[in-house]
Amino acid sequence: MCLQITGGTRLVGTVPVSGSKNGALALMAAAMLPAGESVLRGVPRIADIEILRSLMAAVGVASEWTDRHTLVIAGGRLEEGPPPTELARKMRASYYLMGPLLGRLGRARVGLPGGCSIGARPIDLHFRAFEALGARTGIEAGEAWAEAVRLRGADMTLVGPFGSSVGATINALLAACVTPGVSRIFGAAQEPEVWAVAAFLNRAGARIAGAGTATVEVEGVSRLHPVTYDVPGDRIEAGTCLLAGAATGGDVRVEGIAPWTLDGLPRLLTKMGCACAVESGAVRVMAPDRLRAVEAVTGPFPALATDIQPVLVAALCRAAGDSLVEERVFDGRFGYTRELERLGAQIRVAGGTTALISGVPALSGAPMAGTDLRATAALIVGALAAEGESTVEGLHFLDRGYEGLETKLAGLGARVRRTGSPVPVQL
Ligand code: UD1
Repeated sequence: MCLQITGGTRLVGTVPVSGSKNGALALMAAAMLPAGESVLRGVPRIADIEILRSLMAAVGVASEWTDRHTLVIAGGRLEEGPPPTELARKMRASYYLMGPLLGRLGRARVGLPGGCSIGARPIDLHFRAFEALGARTGIEAGEAWAEAVRLRGADMTLVGPFGSSVGATINALLAACVTPGVSRIFGAAQEPEVWAVAAFLNRAGARIAGAGTATVEVEGVSRLHPVTYDVPGDRIEAGTCLLAGAATGGDVRVEGIAPWTLDGLPRLLTKMGCACAVESGAVRVMAPDRLRAVEAVTGPFPALATDIQPVLVAALCRAAGDSLVEERVFDGRFGYTRELERLGAQIRVAGGTTALISGVPALSGAPMAGTDLRATAALIVGALAAEGESTVEGLHFLDRGYEGLETKLAGLGARVRRTGSPVPVQL
């Protein structure tokens, strides 16, 4: 199965974004805590969501689709598990089972999380949070475990060598919000997903203050009640579509996205020579025929999102001048540039963390293969900007995190077609 793309067409029009993959995964974990049926609306239909549903079912939390994007989650009756290790290895977000299990049962055991190969992805900061609350933790036979005789609120600082951690901050919130006493998380991640989880939990009766800032205070409560919550729009999908528009000299409006969640992207697009219009719930980019080169650095929110970095690099391949993109969150996230070079792109990676992109006037289509989720999206953007035919393999990565991306791009005028039979989600 691959995408066949005939590039060189300006993308024009409006595209609705799906609910956030990373937001929905974290909110599903949060919905494990309240006793009763919580409802999440706007959940994207992607493989990662199905994997987490199966993992949750293995620890006693059933969920059911009541329409295409509405998921009802029967929380509160957690069982120890553990869920099948092979399943947990399929994605990073399987670590989200640990916070709710530890908070509710005093013990958790989950196969070590997998996910995209984009550099080291340890879970020491998750353990640091659980240990601060009074748990012992460890890794044994391919599983991460945490266990406590009694949990109690505590202060913790969750900063690693690359700054804050989204997953560890959310896991700390999930465990601490049902742990007696007051917990304070210093160095908390400020990504919109943290804010969304805290908003969900507070609506369910939790007492969390400061989410979205570097210090979050949590007063544990014993009971949470089920709630209905709308998953925010996917900021990475929105950024992908905006950059696809920019890369093709197009005029693309994404809707269903809170512009503040895009951090500096509209500003960066302006530096790249585009005009950007920010509305409530939508952003439009109007691009020149050829973009201007820029310098950009990824980092924890509100810096440029690391997940958008590969797509940005793809868009800059045809820009006028030399661009410099520095990756400061993951240490192995430029592997896909070898594939972009097949299009004629000129990219030099230094020290694994910096890419120098010497813009070329034109790219020409080529066969390429994605190596992870966002890398595959980047190759698609590169192919759209290149003249002629490209093929992009690696759709099992793409389908983990984007819902119908090629259909959305086709709606903007892209000439893109999926060939071969779809690979069913492997559970
Ligand atoms: C989440 C997102 C991912 C995104 C990333 C950064 C999900 C499911 N995934 O991943 O798409 O790219 O945030 O925005 O939401 N680190 C440690 N120790 C830890 C945990 C992390 O050193 O215990 C390091 C990581 O190696 C990385 C940095 O901290 O260098 C940030 O990682 P983190 O924010 O935790 O990423 P994830 O939650 O795994």
